Amino acid sequence: MTSIETERLILRPFIDSDAERVLDIHSRLDVIRWLSDPPYVPMADLDEARTWLANWASLPEGGPYDVGLAIEVKETGAMVGALMIVPEPNANYDERQIGWHLHPDAVGYGYATEAAAALLDDAFGRGLDEIWCGMFPDNAPSAAVAERLGLRPLGVVPDPWYEGEGRLFFATREEWLNR
Ligand SMILES: CC(C)(COP(=O)(O)OP(=O)(O)OC[C@H]1O[C@@H](n2cnc3c(N)ncnc32)[C@H](O)[C@@H]1OP(=O)(O)O)[C@@H](O)C(=O)NCCC(=O)NCCS
Repeated sequence: MTSIETERLILRPFIDSDAERVLDIHSRLDVIRWLSDPPYVPMADLDEARTWLANWASLPEGGPYDVGLAIEVKETGAMVGALMIVPEPNANYDERQIGWHLHPDAVGYGYATEAAAALLDDAFGRGLDEIWCGMFPDNAPSAAVAERLGLRPLGVVPDPWYEGEGRLFFATREEWLNR
């Protein structure tokens, strides 16, 4: 996957030198608390960060739309977060989700929305049929990103892929292009 450029950002594959920033992001409870069910296990060291990076490096074998990208701010060169399209776990058909997370120091600038819009433009432009986006029901900041993107809200429902309830959003390619 090549990089995608937006007005303020470069979305690019992860590189080895992202390890320190990856560790900084994933060792924070206020970030990882939203990424999985408890127990929340903060990333402990650079070795874990390198393993995390290596996992993303092998993802392109999964399919043409599956990708994990670093979000880099052009002006500062800072790597501020991660953006991904991945298959839903135990998918019923070819369901894919988009996800995002930022370092807390990069929240409140519109970076997640700007990055996700560009990635969805790219994926739908290359033939992706539909996208899902799910979050814990009380993750208001993430729901606000999905709303700003113009994804269709499906409310809080029994999560089709994860334990418990999720707040889901969805868009077909046609919906995305006409939003
Ligand atoms: C979810 C998350 C990515 C949202 O980040 P965010 O910065 O609030 O989202 P956006 O990129 O859409 O930015 C919107 C905010 O930037 C502000 N903003 C500032 N300058 C802006 C600009 N030039 N353009 C757009 N928005 C701008 C907006 O007003 C808005 O702030 P507000 O919420 O106070 O109104 C972030 O909270 C996060 O990483 N959380 C932890 C991990 C997580 O929950 N991930 C999702 C799991 S499902």
